[in-house]
Amino acid sequence: DWKMQDVLEEEVKVIKGMVGPDEHVICALSGGVDSTVAATLVHKAIGDRLHCVFVDNGLLRYKERERVMSTFESELHLPVTCVDASEQFLNKLKGVKDPEMKRKIIGHEFICIFDEFAIELEKKLGKKPTFLVQGTLYPDVIESCPPPGSGMTHSHTIKSHHNVGGLPKDMKLKLIEPLKFLFKDEVRKLGRILNVPESFLKRHPFPGPGLAVRVLGDVTEGNALEILRQVDEIFIQSIKEAGLYDSIWQAFAVFLPVQSVGVQGDQRTHSHVVVLRAITSEDGMTADWYYFDHKFLIDVVRKICNNVRGVNRVCQDITSKPPATVEWE
Ligand code: XMP
Repeated sequence: DWKMQDVLEEEVKVIKGMVGPDEHVICALSGGVDSTVAATLVHKAIGDRLHCVFVDNGLLRYKERERVMSTFESELHLPVTCVDASEQFLNKLKGVKDPEMKRKIIGHEFICIFDEFAIELEKKLGKKPTFLVQGTLYPDVIESCPPPGSGMTHSHTIKSHHNVGGLPKDMKLKLIEPLKFLFKDEVRKLGRILNVPESFLKRHPFPGPGLAVRVLGDVTEGNALEILRQVDEIFIQSIKEAGLYDSIWQAFAVFLPVQSVGVQGDQRTHSHVVVLRAITSEDGMTADWYYFDHKFLIDVVRKICNNVRGVNRVCQDITSKPPATVEWE
């Protein structure tokens, strides 16, 4: 794609011009497409004066930390520090049931960890990093007021409302936002040129607060997170094996804080209920539930009940948005 090749070269030039030869840059990688493409681009411009951090908040999916770290390190050669802060996050979330409170706590903890990372880095370098990379896209920039005459449609003007909250305000970092003139599909094209693996570019969106908004109520109760990870993994792998992944906007499992009576083997059980949700959408603002054929559903439910201890009932969410939201919390 020649146009994107031009964008790439232009951006590299701009970044090289912005960042002085002995200045350092930091970036928080979420595991999503935007921050990964932004970091890869900046890395191309300034090399290892870029310092990335990936935070394991204990709310990631099955083997997610290993999987994204391996892409960052082995395939993209990004300089990235992985901080395992799962205990810290989960301790703070103990007993918290309110969804907005969970989001607030997670946002706050994230800022604390990022702060610590910057302080440690300063010690190591003997100087403060001066820039921060953010994967802001054009739709985030124009938010609710499209430039007059831009021909933007409504869907282009809506922000993916609640991205990872702000970053420390007193850090006084200058921003590098190399994607701020691009739409999502253009970011993918750019990523392709930068050799970001196709499977990575096509990943479904995943909310910043992670599995915290998919375990209803207290996320630390029992082994809810572990059960959810296993169910979600079986569901997603089945979708991939059936060749359906790219036709679905988002698919995931939800853990309900209720138990139901079942019978497995010749035992009566009193175990957990999980929900499968898959949707199609253009922008996440409205969505339709995805229609799986019977055979697919029969197989998935069988796999889940046979392999995940503690689950005896699987439901499918067939509600569109509106009236429901995509996530359950
Ligand atoms: P809802 O549930 O509001 O979700 O219909 C629309 C899209 O946004 C994602 N989502 C979030 N993303 N932080 C995020 O970064 C959040 O707190 C959050 N809540 C929902 C959701 O996964 C869907 O793609």
